[in-house]
Amino acid sequence: MSEPKMDQRIGQGRENWASQVGFVLAAAGSAIGLGNIWRFPYLTGTNGGAAFVVIYLAAIIFFGYPIMITEMTIGRKTQRNAYGAFAALSPGTNWWLVGALGVLTGFVILSYYSVVGGWGVAYLFKTLVGMLPKGTDFAGAFVGHITATWEPIFWHAVFMGVTTAIIAAGVVKGIQRWSEILMPMLAMSLIILVLRSVTLPGAMAGISFYLKPDFSNVTAKTVLDALSQAFFSLSLGMGCMITYGSYVSAEEDLTKSALYVVSMDTMAALFAGLAILPAVFALGFEPGAGAGLTFITLPAVFAEMPLGGFFGVVFFFLLCIAALTSAISLLEVVVAYLVDEKGWNRQRAAILTGTACFLFGLPTTLGYGALSHITFLGMDLLDTYDWITNSICLPLGALLTAIFAAYYWGTKNVAEEANRGSTGMAVGAWWAFLIRYVVPVAIAIIMLSGIYQRIAG
Ligand code: PFF
Repeated sequence: MSEPKMDQRIGQGRENWASQVGFVLAAAGSAIGLGNIWRFPYLTGTNGGAAFVVIYLAAIIFFGYPIMITEMTIGRKTQRNAYGAFAALSPGTNWWLVGALGVLTGFVILSYYSVVGGWGVAYLFKTLVGMLPKGTDFAGAFVGHITATWEPIFWHAVFMGVTTAIIAAGVVKGIQRWSEILMPMLAMSLIILVLRSVTLPGAMAGISFYLKPDFSNVTAKTVLDALSQAFFSLSLGMGCMITYGSYVSAEEDLTKSALYVVSMDTMAALFAGLAILPAVFALGFEPGAGAGLTFITLPAVFAEMPLGGFFGVVFFFLLCIAALTSAISLLEVVVAYLVDEKGWNRQRAAILTGTACFLFGLPTTLGYGALSHITFLGMDLLDTYDWITNSICLPLGALLTAIFAAYYWGTKNVAEEANRGSTGMAVGAWWAFLIRYVVPVAIAIIMLSGIYQRIAG
């Protein structure tokens, strides 16, 4: 198809990241989140360890990196939010629907992401004041927390409030500034925890569970879990990297930034697994606890460990920072849309969207208590929000973005824009091949089989 007439970037005068480091840290902040610290270790634990890690890494390399480049490029070219970017590149068509799906997905993910972020803040508070000492019934404490009515709502409100305040402050003064402050702290906390975990006596069993693959138990579900985890972890498939890419200036080396972001996110996930699984094994716990690994197994592990109180605080601090820098990017997807397309001012857009998201998340906070009778395909409300967005919307968004880039905008045009400012990591034939054939076909197969499996029970 022909390239739409657009010699100049749309939206000139848009606020730009103040530096490449600022952009990379903000995008890595978006990518590194609950997905890495909470979801990745427990999925590895329930999906049999190293085999899952290997499939996950393949998904990152073959799907994650090419789509990361594609999304950032669409954003930089158009200097628009997710919806506006598709609309600008394909006037008179319905491609804008892909961007609109992204904005909607961002809204829904944030609504429950903030609930889990709220659990993290509550646990940071509890470990700080010593409310989870040795001998606590940790499973009971967690269930008690999430089935209560007001406590999780309170922490959900705190989490969403902080997220909203950062977004209201702006791209450079809010997102970039806080990413530059928080990301080094995140890296430090993660390193401290890995060093502690792998040096515990008995940590070796956990390390080999994590590093020695056994493919005999791999199923279609394992593959879908790995694929959707890759998109979720890299913040792909919903226009988040389009939005962050839209604040990048034309001279910047985009392909290199994309590589940094993907590498940092992958390292963070691998390190989080290394911080958690060896410690779990060393202290005689089971790795397959599922979503409760972070909130039930780990506090129990910390309680048994010398200086565990300190490490517990470091861990939940890490979880909160990771969640916060991701939540702001989710909110930014919606706010950028309202600012660009509806002409709202940033503060108003942030406050109204933050409030709406808080309200939309309320059913998921109540899904374990007052609303626990409501289920969908056997899932509680939070898992339902999570499944619909992560197993359907993100792969679908990524699939359509790949098709758009490969067959509508055209790989040549994407590559030309991606390589502007590139200093060696240029996008070439390998990328075009992946985005044309490998990415769409594989995503479609994996997504459909995963949905079928869930529905067929
Ligand atoms: N990447 C984040 C994580 O791993 O927790 C979650 C996320 C953020 C998903 C932003 C999608 C997104 F647009």
